[in-house]
Amino acid sequence: MDIKELDREYIANTYGRADVVFVRGEGANVYDDRGRRYIDLGAGIAVNSFGLADPVWREAVVGQLSKLQHMSNLYYTEPCVKLAQALCQRTGMKRVFFGNSGAEANECAIKAARKWAFDRVGDYSRSGIITLKNSFHGRTVTTLSATGQDAFHTKFGPFTPGFYHASAQDAREVRALADRGDCCAVMLELIQGEGGVVPLTREYVDEVVEIARERDMLVIVDEVQTGNGRTGTLYAFEQFGFLPDIVSTAKGLGGGLPLGACLLGERVKDTLGRGDHGSTFGGNPIACAGALSILQRLDQELLADVRRKGEMIREALTGAAGVKSVTGMGLLVGILTEKPASQVAREALERGVVVLTAHEKVRLAPPLNIRDEELCEAVKILKEVIGE
Ligand SMILES: Cc1ncc(COP(=O)(O)O)c(C=O)c1O
Repeated sequence: MDIKELDREYIANTYGRADVVFVRGEGANVYDDRGRRYIDLGAGIAVNSFGLADPVWREAVVGQLSKLQHMSNLYYTEPCVKLAQALCQRTGMKRVFFGNSGAEANECAIKAARKWAFDRVGDYSRSGIITLKNSFHGRTVTTLSATGQDAFHTKFGPFTPGFYHASAQDAREVRALADRGDCCAVMLELIQGEGGVVPLTREYVDEVVEIARERDMLVIVDEVQTGNGRTGTLYAFEQFGFLPDIVSTAKGLGGGLPLGACLLGERVKDTLGRGDHGSTFGGNPIACAGALSILQRLDQELLADVRRKGEMIREALTGAAGVKSVTGMGLLVGILTEKPASQVAREALERGVVVLTAHEKVRLAPPLNIRDEELCEAVKILKEVIGE
């Protein structure tokens, strides 16, 4: 049996996989089991920040692997501390809890917000959390509940109560929910990634932040997909001009190893105490050593380059045949096409370009260091596919 048949027999049938077996890669180039080269405009799903088998990241990872791969969080280890320090120094946040995924980072954010409210009022009367329609926050039962899409609210109930979903266009819905007085936080993706690369407007975000401040609520920003340089700043919130109380992130932080982080700001930095939360693998030394090397390379020059390359993509595709609209920031791009997005993705793959989809859009999230030549070559092919 070949790998595809074995996969169908032995792997839980939760993924609709494309018809290709990838075996190795180098930067933004990925090769299949027949040696065919593809240009990768997906980077996993916005995960491989510096592409495949990046030598700097690999050295950090292998160096740590050769020393100590894991010790329990009951002991001190250096990589997670250094990474937490760097994250706090770069963001203005104060403490970090490490998990292994985006969903876990959000679980921690939700627990921290609820505990913060519990500490203030002494009961669960302010445990509600407002999230947005069309959001995506993860696949655990609680983060599915937080996710503002009805499609995720079937089959696995009962779901965690206490989440209210408000319009992502009109802040009056957030205000009405906040006025109920039973919410401790509002949780936002600044660009709804899985929802179709839909950025919130600055005016909307300003208003929501103001409502939260007026009602003594926390602002949680889910930067699982938008974080770690993806949008052209280290975190997308920097482009919206405010400091959240909690930031969750994952994906590109680990650059391909599982790592999630919940960054806790001044108001919640002491909320979680001993025994309130934990993780066996969270803050794994290998993942953290790799992440620190990534963070150190996400300097102003690289971030400016991410913005420049994002503009290159937008310029090339805006108004092109078969393109209805182009959204996103930096190297997180959504393209609404006349052809169904899944068809574009399939045809692009046949022509040697890996792209993602998000709802009805084609989604691009290439490695942040993709070379201009590779990007131009891939966008040219994609443009042809979209326009045919
Ligand atoms: C904004 C956002 N939050 C949370 C998640 C869940 O992350 P993970 O799959 O690592 O649990 C995702 C994944 O796509 C995401 O895009």
